Amino acid sequence: MCGIIGYVGKQDAMPVLVGGLRRMEYRGYDSAGIALVSGGHTAVVKRKGKITNLADALTAKKPTGMTGIGHTRWATHGVPNEVNAHPHQAGHITIVHNGIIENYADLKERLIKDHGRKFESETDTEVLAHLISVKREKDESLEAAVLSALLEVEGTFAVLVLDERDPDKIVAARRGSPLLVGIADDAIFLASDATAVIGHTDRVVYMEDDEIAICTPGKYEIIDFKAQHKRHEEQQIKLELKAIEKAGYDHFLLKEIMEQPKTIADILRGRLDLDAGTSHLGGLNTDPKFYQQMTRFLTIGCGTAYYAGLLGQYLLERMTGLPVDVEFASEFRYREPVVNGHTLGMIVTQSGETADTLASLRELKRRGTRTLGLVNVVGSSVAREVDGGVYLHAGPEISVASTKAFTAQVIAQILVGLQIGRSRKLSATDGKAIVRALEALPAQVQSILDQHERIKAISAKFADAKNVMYLGRDALYPVALEGALKLKEISYIHTEAYPAGEMKHGPVALIDEELPIVYFHPKNDLYDKTRSNLEEVRARGGRLIIVGTEGDESLKEFSDDVIYIPDAHAYTQPILANIPMQLFAYYVAVSRGTDVDQPRNLAKSVTVE
Ligand code: AGP
Repeated sequence: MCGIIGYVGKQDAMPVLVGGLRRMEYRGYDSAGIALVSGGHTAVVKRKGKITNLADALTAKKPTGMTGIGHTRWATHGVPNEVNAHPHQAGHITIVHNGIIENYADLKERLIKDHGRKFESETDTEVLAHLISVKREKDESLEAAVLSALLEVEGTFAVLVLDERDPDKIVAARRGSPLLVGIADDAIFLASDATAVIGHTDRVVYMEDDEIAICTPGKYEIIDFKAQHKRHEEQQIKLELKAIEKAGYDHFLLKEIMEQPKTIADILRGRLDLDAGTSHLGGLNTDPKFYQQMTRFLTIGCGTAYYAGLLGQYLLERMTGLPVDVEFASEFRYREPVVNGHTLGMIVTQSGETADTLASLRELKRRGTRTLGLVNVVGSSVAREVDGGVYLHAGPEISVASTKAFTAQVIAQILVGLQIGRSRKLSATDGKAIVRALEALPAQVQSILDQHERIKAISAKFADAKNVMYLGRDALYPVALEGALKLKEISYIHTEAYPAGEMKHGPVALIDEELPIVYFHPKNDLYDKTRSNLEEVRARGGRLIIVGTEGDESLKEFSDDVIYIPDAHAYTQPILANIPMQLFAYYVAVSRGTDVDQPRNLAKSVTVE
């Protein structure tokens, strides 16, 4: 999703802007640009493609200025090219924008008809620039013009606005797309996320929807759309620079896969109670009586977060005895949801900014549903709007493909399941067994990661595959779905995932000697059932990659490509089974030469519908 950066202060703004854009590359983009104001003039430099193209152009042009804005664009309206890249200008006004102006066509028609405005690009953003420019002709201040323009806008925005006649000011506004204000003694920073300001300041405030920030060197003021002054509590960013660097790995994705023993330990720290066989979660903000009266979970998420919720369904139903419904946020938000005061809405999201997920949260709250967020990014919109929450503590997840966050999202649901389950049907004995299983996870995950060379060798055999099928049963079916998504999104190989028992109802027709099939067959209660499905696959000649339990030598009769995971509790086994799939997808993608950390067409946080 688009990345936005702004700086107004006493230093040359360009290095701050370019550095901030580089920090936000992970969000996914197809063009980039900056604007600098100096001496009553605005210099705009923008290029299609990677930030290196922009940096080369800046080296040649050497624009200067102590006030500036920058943008990485993930195309919504208009193809990725230099004309459609941000910043966009209209007269003295220059803007960058993340979001969608839904009524841009009507506004554009009016600007052309009533004000004779001419447009260069296909973007909705350029329409907003002209609207602000028209308002500025009669409004006494830039902030008044921005407010007046945004009151006519339908849609979402995080927008930074410059007026070259007011060179020491940036006016910012947000609705539906993230925007924070970074505070330093002699400068103000504006950014889509905290990674862009690390190293410049650790003091931030997070803007809320329908707010405007008026920023000058070292000072800012926030007003709402009724022009009322707003105050937000300053937060301290706890991220360090090394958390957003590759630390010697070839890709962020490999770093984030390999650091899971640490991130698992981080999410568990201080939250396990072995004696009572339960968890301690500080942020639930829920009266335990609610857990006695609640009648169901409704879990909502997108992509990997949705699959984590699907896996949680198998675990939470067993831990709590409550039904768990799991919904794609993009579907849920437009249905007539059947929820009531006894439903616990669980919002699963790494970024906390996914538009469909955020909209679903707001729909649940409108219907009086209690909400619980399982979120990684501190201070994100979802984290600030849910009734209670469990932070994932997975650290910044820079690679577009989500790996360590998936693991943390599943663990967070087990922690919630312990807390609620132990207040309902889960016995202390069963709770203790789950706590022990969680405590064993970091070392068990490490033992799988130590097999990375073997997994790399197996992946090399399948780098030219055109299709891959993933089959798993029960709690391993969501793992099959997640494994299929991982391979699909970073290697561009077509993948499908099915419950193993479902294969004979159609998908078995796809199986031939060419088709690689990832088959989850660890030791568990359904082992014998899963074996018979495996026999059906072998009988039709599929190229099997089997994930099984250490010591199960029988699997070698079916394939040379068996990846072993440690024997584990039924609730942590799916987490372990997913780890080799992350590495498998990574190595296949690397051998195919795709852009592993920023796969084509994808964005890290989809803040538009
Ligand atoms: C997963 O690898 C993808 N990057 C994508 O499906 C992602 O999980 C989805 O967009 C949800 O993002 P969120 O967790 O930040 O809400």
